[in-house]
Amino acid sequence: MSVLKITGGRSLEGSLRVQGAKNSALPLLAASVLTEGLSVFRNCPRLTDVAATVDILRHVGCRVYGEGDALYVDASGPISPEVPDELMGRMRSSVIFLGALLSRCGEVSLSLPGGCELGPRPVDLHLLALRALGAEVTEAGGRLCCRCARLRGGRIDLPSPSVGATENAMLAAVRARGNTVITGAAREPEIRDLQEYLRSCGALVTGAGSSVIRIRGVEKLGGGEKRIMPDRIAAATYLAACASAGGRVRLYDACPGDMVPVLQALRGMGCELRTGENLIMLERRGPLRSPGPVITRPHPGFPTDAQPPLMAAVLKAQGTTVMIETIFESRYRHVPALRSMGADIRTAGKTAVIRGVERLRGGEVHASDLRGGAALAVAALAAEGETVISGTEYMDRGYEDMAGALTALGAEACSE
Ligand code: EPU
Repeated sequence: MSVLKITGGRSLEGSLRVQGAKNSALPLLAASVLTEGLSVFRNCPRLTDVAATVDILRHVGCRVYGEGDALYVDASGPISPEVPDELMGRMRSSVIFLGALLSRCGEVSLSLPGGCELGPRPVDLHLLALRALGAEVTEAGGRLCCRCARLRGGRIDLPSPSVGATENAMLAAVRARGNTVITGAAREPEIRDLQEYLRSCGALVTGAGSSVIRIRGVEKLGGGEKRIMPDRIAAATYLAACASAGGRVRLYDACPGDMVPVLQALRGMGCELRTGENLIMLERRGPLRSPGPVITRPHPGFPTDAQPPLMAAVLKAQGTTVMIETIFESRYRHVPALRSMGADIRTAGKTAVIRGVERLRGGEVHASDLRGGAALAVAALAAEGETVISGTEYMDRGYEDMAGALTALGAEACSE
């Protein structure tokens, strides 16, 4: 089992290219099974979740190969609608294959992803969307089967803006007969990326980024092309790292326009921020202060995925910070590890109250999940002595070589 070792106390200084977005790459790769051609995805991050998605694509019959940061998916051959449980279980977001395989094959059989580190992960909204397009859904022996020879367009009213359900609805609708309107759609920028790719394949989709998405179904899709957007959560994590450690970092290939609430919170903490096209510069010299209350919300609100790293950055900030997590039930699982490092955090339900402390100390801690692990790394940079973080397999799901990135910014970090 590998660990990430970080010795705190050094300020950060340097430049870092932001990796391609995990949460764009996964639905884009799943979407490629809808096409009967060759797709190329540039700026594809090297992550274990991407590798798991590629294994599913290969299993269902796609040819997949990489060249530099590009991944090529050839889905022109026959595609199988079944994914084995072992492959489904490796990653919660594999549920995105539901809409894509149903649309391509007229049927799909998958095991349910179940809960995960963040709490229960229901799929009712995904199924609501597929049923609205005519799919017959049955559940037997833990497997979910959806059938419909040719989906027909319809109205999908999502009662809450689920990112995955919006993506599944789009994937199912692009080849359905007739028109589809999705209301209450999630507005995350990754959904805009999905729309751009689908359009490059010949799909007729508009509205991504707003809460109403309109789709006119087409008979077939050809191959397509997409440069994956920058990972706004990885960017937020490295900005939080610099806020925590002090110093100055410059992130390029970034998307500041998609990160407004995170940048606002960092400014509120006393960091100096400058942004340019694809560029974010953060400098923190003086003491940090509380940014005021931070409430996670669907986009364009403060992203739940940035809550753990931001929490880690405020541990030594002057004053009290209140965080309210409204998206996931169990997204404070990093708190006990942060407390063991000296943090003063109280949680009750959705609320966490963090009182700034003078000192944090390194120690042996375990990552509870992907973003929780990132939080431990951010805290370790401001702690005295060495922190040894185990459970780094969670971090490898979403961060491309975090030890390397932190080292490039001047931190004392290594992966062993
Ligand atoms: N929900 C339902 N029913 C559903 C689907 C979702 O009740 O059918 C609930 C969830 O339980 C949750 C909320 O709706 O409470 C939001 O879930 P959503 O469907 O929007 O999340 P997701 O699509 O499963 C994506 C990201 C997550 C990110 C969330 C919220 C991907 C692959 N994953 O998940 O990313 O936290 O949106 O922004 O895009 C991460 O990167 O660390 C991560 C967890």
